[in-house]
Amino acid sequence: MAYVRIDEAVKFFSREDGSPLKVLDGISFDTKEYGITALLGPSGCGKSTLLNIITGLERLDHGQVEIISSSEDEERAHPQLGYVFQDPRLLNWKRVEDNLKFALKGMEVPADEWDERLDKYLSLVGLTDFRKQYPLYLSGGMRQRVGLARGLVIEPQVLLMDEPYSKLDQLTARQLREDTLQICSRLRQTALLVTHDVEESAYMGDRIVIFSARPARIAAVYENPLKSSERDTDDMRFIEFKKEVLETILNLVKEVA
Ligand SMILES: Nc1ncnc2c1ncn2[C@@H]1O[C@H](COP(=O)(O)OP(=O)(O)OP(=O)(O)O)[C@@H](O)[C@H]1O
Ligand SMILES: [Mg+2]
Repeated sequence: MAYVRIDEAVKFFSREDGSPLKVLDGISFDTKEYGITALLGPSGCGKSTLLNIITGLERLDHGQVEIISSSEDEERAHPQLGYVFQDPRLLNWKRVEDNLKFALKGMEVPADEWDERLDKYLSLVGLTDFRKQYPLYLSGGMRQRVGLARGLVIEPQVLLMDEPYSKLDQLTARQLREDTLQICSRLRQTALLVTHDVEESAYMGDRIVIFSARPARIAAVYENPLKSSERDTDDMRFIEFKKEVLETILNLVKEVA
C-alpha cells in the first residue's frame, strides 16, 4: 500500500480583480497508511483544492505532494489513485457492470481479470443483483455504491473521497458510512476522505486532520482512539471523541467570526 505526504503546500488562486487569493498556507501532513484519513475543515477552506492538487488537476505554488508506495512492485502493479465524488458521475447509458469495466479498461487492467474484479467489488458494496441495471433505475444510495465500487475496482493505492455522502438523506448516508468503513478496513485501503461533517470525520477517520478557515493551516491532528470496529455513534467513548473534535472546529469558527 501507500500513503500521501503533503509537505509545506502553498496554493494561490486569482481573485476576479487579479489579486492573489491564498488558499493553502503551508500545509504539511501524512495520511495514514492502511486506513482512512479524514480531512475536516470549514466550507471554502481549500479541502477540494488539496484533492485536486493530489490528482494533478491543480499545481502547487510551493511545497510538494508525494504518493509514497511501500515498494516499487506496488507502484508498478497498481494505479495510484481512485476517486469517489460527491456526485457519482456515472455513465447513465452504461449498465452498472459496464461502468466498472470502463474504469478497468481506462486503467489497462487485462480483460481476463475483469470478471473476478467485478464479482469481488460489486459483492462488497452489495450490488451483485444489480450488475445489469442502468444507473438511472437505481436509488441515490445505490448509485453512490456504484461510485464506490468503481473507485475500488481498479485497486488504487490511495482512494480519494470528496464529501461522498453529503447529498444523501441521513439514513442512507449513515448506512453507507458504516459499509464504507467496513470495506476499507477489510481491504486495508489507504483513503483520504474530505468532509465538513464532524460526526463523519470521527466515525470514518483513523486519523483526522483539521484545517483552519482559508487560508488553510493545520489546526489539529487527531488519532482516533477507537478502532474502526469499536466505533458506535451511540457509545459514550465515541460521543466524547466527537465532542473533542467539534470543540476544536467550533473554536476555529469563533476565531473567524
Ligand atoms: N479555480 C479556481 N479559481 C479561483 N478560485 C478558486 C478556484 N477553485 C477554488 N477557488 C477558491 O478557493 C477556495 C477553496 O475552495 P475549495 O473548493 O477547495 O474549498 P472546500 O474546502 O472544498 O469547500 P467546501 O467544503 O464548500 O467544498 C474558495 O474560496 C474558492 O472560491
Ligand atoms: Mg469541497
